[in-house]
Amino acid sequence: MDKKKLIIGNMKMYMTSGDVKEYLQKLNLKNMNEQVVFCPSSIYIPYFLGYPFQVGAQNISATTLGAYTGEISAEQLASLGVAYTIVGHSERRMYFGEINEEVHQKMKRALDHHMVPIVCIGETLEEYNAGKTLSILRTQLIDCLTGLSLEEINKTVIAYEPIWAIGTGKIPTNLEIEKIAIEIKKILQEVFQSTNVPVLYGGSVSSKNIEQLEQITSIDGYLIGSASVKTKEIEKILEVVNH
Ligand code: PGA
Repeated sequence: MDKKKLIIGNMKMYMTSGDVKEYLQKLNLKNMNEQVVFCPSSIYIPYFLGYPFQVGAQNISATTLGAYTGEISAEQLASLGVAYTIVGHSERRMYFGEINEEVHQKMKRALDHHMVPIVCIGETLEEYNAGKTLSILRTQLIDCLTGLSLEEINKTVIAYEPIWAIGTGKIPTNLEIEKIAIEIKKILQEVFQSTNVPVLYGGSVSSKNIEQLEQITSIDGYLIGSASVKTKEIEKILEVVNH
């Protein structure tokens, strides 16, 4: 199956409105398509609409519309035309206490409004060194996905992001990523009977390592953080991926 890879830009809390306008002016749209998704800070989402790429949120509320000061609901985002949302990013888990149960709620909210949840899972350096990666990933997957229907699971995207690889310039070997992607797919099949969920890799993806990462056969795309904020970087990455 020669399906186009899914390329998600997690722009985090970078860029002012001036930077966003400049970024969009400079961005070469040549390799942009429906499989490219930019996730800017929510206040900038309207700037990113109307291009050949898709738009995603970095986070959504676990609750539905209502009196929740400072929150943004799936319904509100979907009503703007936002098609994806990241959930359970390790920075949200680490700094904002997001737990698997909440990730599950957020997935539900997103799916209820036809948004694709991009569920981030990954191990810490200590867990990696202790050889616990697979058991950690298994628990995260089971806790986040249990309670969803097969149809809902099949609309989900999983991003494997080793926490020690995020923003550090360090990445696992191709063999490690390959093995983990295969294991994730195996768990999805064995536990949830799902054979249809794209598995992405995220953590320090850049124009420097994308050619190497492209040798991996079982990865269906990338979640790209800081490199997605630089037009030249994201353009080079897309050039390699679409060759
Ligand atoms: P990074 O971030 O590419 O800057 O390492 C990835 C992420 O946090 O999704």
